[in-house]
Amino acid sequence: MNETVLETEKLDKVYKLGGRSIRALSDVNLQVKKGDFVSIMGPSGSGKTTLLNILGCLDKPTSGRIILDDVDVTTVPEKELYKIRRYKIGFVFQTFNLLPYLSAIENVELPMEGTGKSKEEKLKRARELLKLVGLAERENHKPLRLSAGEQQRVAIARALANGPSILLADEPTGNLDAKTKYEIVRLLGKLNTEHGTTIVMVTHDNAIASHARRVLFINDGKMLSKEKMGLFAKEKLTCPACGREIQITHVFCPHCGRKLSN
Ligand SMILES: Nc1ncnc2c1ncn2[C@@H]1O[C@H](COP(=O)(O)OP(=O)(O)O)[C@@H](O)[C@H]1O
Ligand SMILES: [Mg+2]
Repeated sequence: MNETVLETEKLDKVYKLGGRSIRALSDVNLQVKKGDFVSIMGPSGSGKTTLLNILGCLDKPTSGRIILDDVDVTTVPEKELYKIRRYKIGFVFQTFNLLPYLSAIENVELPMEGTGKSKEEKLKRARELLKLVGLAERENHKPLRLSAGEQQRVAIARALANGPSILLADEPTGNLDAKTKYEIVRLLGKLNTEHGTTIVMVTHDNAIASHARRVLFINDGKMLSKEKMGLFAKEKLTCPACGREIQITHVFCPHCGRKLSN
């Protein structure tokens, strides 16, 4: 596990909103090796989605570098970036984002459009992936006829379609009930341990984060220096709304009531 797949150097992100600047990421330095499974935990508004979108080339940093498979993607021209998104990155969203009018298997085949694979190759690959995520029997179901957990499994299969170097998951269990969310994070664990899939997952949920090999913390756009396992309840953060001290496990700020859990 020595080969570095993804590395960031001094990532900053400042959003301009009206006349205001919002610093969403500040000096984020991260290194992910092949075969790693990293979770990044932090309360709502701490910059998790911003970070993942930037790592996934869905957004650009204000400054800093992102090295993916030895390529500085911040220097890749926009018209070439789709290749990186298509072949190097698999993205899993909280809300699944499946196309409702396509069946499970068609959703998984979709990212392979335009890659030069034949119809048969695409079908074979999509079948293998649906089997891998435990949905071989559901290939012709449209998303609405699948449970939330099954939809997320399809979304994971779709993310793996082109054999990405890294799987990025933004709160992949955020829309799932308690039982289903463990099934999904166990599936991610299985992909990592049995198939060597390199994963970065962001979540506010410590029980979910603890399934990863490493847990990092982010607060107010800064990665905390300490890397911890099993000590979540003791981690102190500041509420993004009132600035007072909260625990990372809080779902609502005990001081101002701000919901922290997404
Ligand atoms: N498109 C945007 N424009 C302006 N501010 C944004 C935008 N997206 C996120 N933010 C702000 O950046 C900060 C981090 O947001 P986000 O990355 O969504 O956090 P998280 O995913 O941890 O909840 C928040 O203060 C949020 O309000
Ligand atoms: Mg988010």
